[in-house]
Amino acid sequence: MKIADLPRIPLAQLPTPLDELPRLSEDLGVRVLMKRDDLTGFALGGNKARKLEFLIADALAQRADIIVTGGGAQSNHIRMTAAAARKVGLDARALVFGEMPAEVNGNLLLDDLLGVEIIHTPNDDRVRAEQMLIEIADDLKQQGRRPYLIPIGGSTVLGCISYLLAVGEMREQLAARAISPDHIFITTGSCGTHAGVLTGLKYYGSTMSLYGISVGRPKSECEDRIATLVKKTADFIAPALSVRPNEIIVYADYIGRGYALITPEARAAIKRVARLEGIFLDQVYTGKTMAGLIDLIARGKIARGSTVVFWHTGGIPGLFANPADFHA
Ligand SMILES: Cc1ncc(COP(=O)(O)O)c(C=O)c1O
Repeated sequence: MKIADLPRIPLAQLPTPLDELPRLSEDLGVRVLMKRDDLTGFALGGNKARKLEFLIADALAQRADIIVTGGGAQSNHIRMTAAAARKVGLDARALVFGEMPAEVNGNLLLDDLLGVEIIHTPNDDRVRAEQMLIEIADDLKQQGRRPYLIPIGGSTVLGCISYLLAVGEMREQLAARAISPDHIFITTGSCGTHAGVLTGLKYYGSTMSLYGISVGRPKSECEDRIATLVKKTADFIAPALSVRPNEIIVYADYIGRGYALITPEARAAIKRVARLEGIFLDQVYTGKTMAGLIDLIARGKIARGSTVVFWHTGGIPGLFANPADFHA
């Protein structure tokens, strides 16, 4: 299958900027560039805009009339999926798992504005949540609807292909400025962005190493999910492509007390980047990834003087969910 033959709708403002962060670079002793996927534009931006260009186009090709997906209470994925569904005239139903906050704020507020139909389960078990999504879609079919199910995080082959293409976009930006980074840092959640970028690095023959910072799942679970997604994506577009296990690099040391719970290191990293560069990170995703980068430099795992691309995947609305996170 050729990527160019896949249905796609335009959602993201592309290419996203690749910014130099000179003051942060000086502070860390490592040259840091930032790939600004927080600026994909649509529905307040973030990494999901790229994935949804393919996923929502596929839903339309399958003549769906409602999108079903799921995530945590402050899911950027639910917000952006619902906005993309609305843009093309579809309904959206979302399973929200875990604890519901007392206040409707951040992404939950935006979900409300978009009119997402929310089904809540206090159960935090993601495997069960994925099963519940299938049950919700089956119920809708019984009612004569045509649901299109997007798994949590939009981490499917189509989602990965969007990030394979994003690597091509970044490579053109780097080539135009004659920059050859050593490493990329990315946030690893449901693993599709990580798997897509890794597949892209292989596809384009790049030697940059990709470091994923897990924000919730254990290391081995991330590694298995990434390996499976890379394999499925390769089977789809380039069967000869493969990654070695040692090319799947995931650190799960920066999660703290759990998914979506801020850590002191993430709080410090968010303030440091805001105060040095005027750029916002968030406490659920990119703040923990920046905390990981800072720690790995301090531990000598990332050599001083090297060049790193930090892939900013968005998540800014989540900043407003719990201001108390930043009062400590
Ligand atoms: C802001 C942000 N960054 C990173 C991620 C992780 O992406 P993925 O689920 O593809 O691993 C997410 C997922 O929801 C996100 O919202």
